[in-house]
Amino acid sequence: MKNLHIIEHPLIKSKITQIRRKETATKMFKELVSEISSLMCYEITRDLEVEEIEIETPVQKTIGYHIKGDDLVLVPILRAGLGMIEGIQNLIPNAKTGHIGVYRDHDTLQPVEYLCKLPLLMENRNVIVLDPMLATGGSAVKAIDILKEHNVKSIRLACLVGCPEGVEFLHKHHPDVAIYLAAMDEKLNENGYIVPGLGDAGDRLFGTQ
Ligand code: URA
Repeated sequence: MKNLHIIEHPLIKSKITQIRRKETATKMFKELVSEISSLMCYEITRDLEVEEIEIETPVQKTIGYHIKGDDLVLVPILRAGLGMIEGIQNLIPNAKTGHIGVYRDHDTLQPVEYLCKLPLLMENRNVIVLDPMLATGGSAVKAIDILKEHNVKSIRLACLVGCPEGVEFLHKHHPDVAIYLAAMDEKLNENGYIVPGLGDAGDRLFGTQ
């Protein structure tokens, strides 16, 4: 499927297996989310443009590269997306962080924005939206709607685990947004959990289950 990248790597496969285990406790879960996000970052940023800069080594001047344009922005969807920041920021220390909070209205079942705090001048920035689970896709679609209202043009979505329902919903609403997954699971169950999945990522990250 166009614009869907399932990142295949032995390290990612084995860490996703560890994270799925129900006996994996909070500290390890958090570390794994961070490590998998770091490993994914390599692929998510593969097509960022670079530009040449002149530098001086201890030996002589030479041409090097830096990432073109304004600093990249990470936008975790609260709250589980927070767990993915550190692993990516370790590799891209200049990245800024915006936050988007979305809840599901009990009556309409529609996602509603409750927080949006973004860096200034978002228009020309590359943005990576972070959410460990791409389940129904409702929160991700809403977060991307919000970013587009701020005129952001270059958006990527990074999730650890997705399912066909979420991918389809996202593509339907935002076909221009590339989705990066560490694993594509079978389906959503009747309670909205990804199967086999890893349970509630927010609860497992923050020890609230
Ligand atoms: N959110 C989660 O944290 N887990 C799921 O399986 C689905 C949505």
